[in-house]
Amino acid sequence: MEDNSLAPISLNSLAQELKILGSEEVDLSLNVNNISYTLKLEPRVTLLDALREKLGLMGTKKACDRGECGACTILVNGRRINSCMTLAIMHIGAEITTIEGLAQDGKLHPMQTAFITHDAFQCGYCTSGQIVSAVGMILEESPKSEAEIREKMSGNLCRCGAYPNIIAAIRDVLEEMSDAAI
Ligand code: FES
Ligand code: FES
Repeated sequence: MEDNSLAPISLNSLAQELKILGSEEVDLSLNVNNISYTLKLEPRVTLLDALREKLGLMGTKKACDRGECGACTILVNGRRINSCMTLAIMHIGAEITTIEGLAQDGKLHPMQTAFITHDAFQCGYCTSGQIVSAVGMILEESPKSEAEIREKMSGNLCRCGAYPNIIAAIRDVLEEMSDAAI
């Protein structure tokens, strides 16, 4: 039987349950980086704005704010999403991971280390999204070729053109994981 316990909640059913009226603030809780936060938010607030403005998690960047650049990429239940394109109230009960949640016990995630090693950024504005997206891509399914990496990372734009180093960083992590060059 399909387990829908972590599925995003539909707006209609949620609105009925919370008796959302207009722009009234509602109480909700979000699980971000394994911490449960209780928030008061207008239902129209995006997940990106909730993370940045209510929780102070500024690592997730706002650039286009309309789903085009990937700077706001986070993981929801292990899958990549653009947090500017979804409402916070749709993710009650979900496991949300931001760039701040990747390091464990004071140790950087291997993808973060690889980006530093390969100098895979210039201004750094896209970098959080690139790193989270790369981690999500591998969680979804490891790419088998450089072309596949490029295709699966195509939702994350870099105005500085750091793509060659970004790809090198990702390849490094994949090679460490599989011990086989791709
Ligand atoms: S800020 Fe969300 S996709 Fe650009
Ligand atoms: S490093 Fe500047 S936008 Fe990517």
